[in-house]
Amino acid sequence: MSSKASQDSINILKQNLLAMQLREVTFKDLLLLDMPLDDVYTFNDNQFFVIISEATPITRELIKSLLNEGVKTVFIKQKDLDVINNKLKNELLRVTRGLSVGNAKENGVKQINYLSKNMAELYKDPLNDENLKTQFQCTTNLSKLLIEHRSFMPEFYTELQKQSHHFTISQPMMASLLLMGFLQQFRLFHEKDIEMIFMTSYFKDIGMSFVPEEKLEKKGLDIFDRKIIGKHAENSLSILEGRVPFSRNHLNIIKNHHYLNERIKAIYKNENFEPSDKMLIGLETTIVAVMDVLVAMISDRPYRNGQTLFQSLELIKKIMADDYPLEYKALVNYLRYFFTKLG
Ligand SMILES: [Fe+2]
Repeated sequence: MSSKASQDSINILKQNLLAMQLREVTFKDLLLLDMPLDDVYTFNDNQFFVIISEATPITRELIKSLLNEGVKTVFIKQKDLDVINNKLKNELLRVTRGLSVGNAKENGVKQINYLSKNMAELYKDPLNDENLKTQFQCTTNLSKLLIEHRSFMPEFYTELQKQSHHFTISQPMMASLLLMGFLQQFRLFHEKDIEMIFMTSYFKDIGMSFVPEEKLEKKGLDIFDRKIIGKHAENSLSILEGRVPFSRNHLNIIKNHHYLNERIKAIYKNENFEPSDKMLIGLETTIVAVMDVLVAMISDRPYRNGQTLFQSLELIKKIMADDYPLEYKALVNYLRYFFTKLG
């Protein structure tokens, strides 16, 4: 083998090793690393390049100059990622402790952002007890803030649309915000119950963590991945049962939150279905499921555009209005009002 060929194969090996070791982060997160413990890389022309050497102070000026040079992606090694995640978790706890102190709306926006980042970490390791406990406690505080300040909901929803969290992280929160506003406006339940339904709705999709993010961004999934996605409600139940203080009723809502999907499938196939499971499932599960369907329909995916609110309500009418006509009307009025507020 010539020395050039052997150099090439060493380079390929190094690049493959880096591909396994490196994790992508945002420039904003990189600033949390005062000084990286290892080299920081970018990916260009199918290769990783060092852009910041280990132990170099990371300043705003340095980030600015990288952006000016056209650097678009940043990759770091696990030990640096652990430092960032620890700082993000401490920020989440700090913001949560002072949620009602000073500007509660601004604090809430920050907290939802840190909560989403912490949830993304939990998705990578849903059996991490400490992260799950932090996520549950901080979301409980958020639910109390939302009970006190219903008017914050549209702004929090818009902020989530702007932030770049993966849709499996942002959509459960968006659906839960809509849900809480609806339940509060129509006084269907007591405050404590509303808080718990909000929590249930937010945690119900944690079973999606069994499917890698990048697979969810493609349209055609193989049978195996579709099966795991189809079982995500049951997987959420297995992740949460016995680890967070949800009652049997709330765990059942999580387990059943996709029951409307059978009706949706029947509608798309032009088949009839019997609106007969009202007594079995109940209003709480129906509203949780409807908000889930609604947010999924109106949001863009990497492979398709979202539908209009009107189109989504047409479908929701078909799956819900026979069992719950009054609640459906109330929902339409509430959503019209909510989305007008968004502008
Ligand atoms: Fe779901």
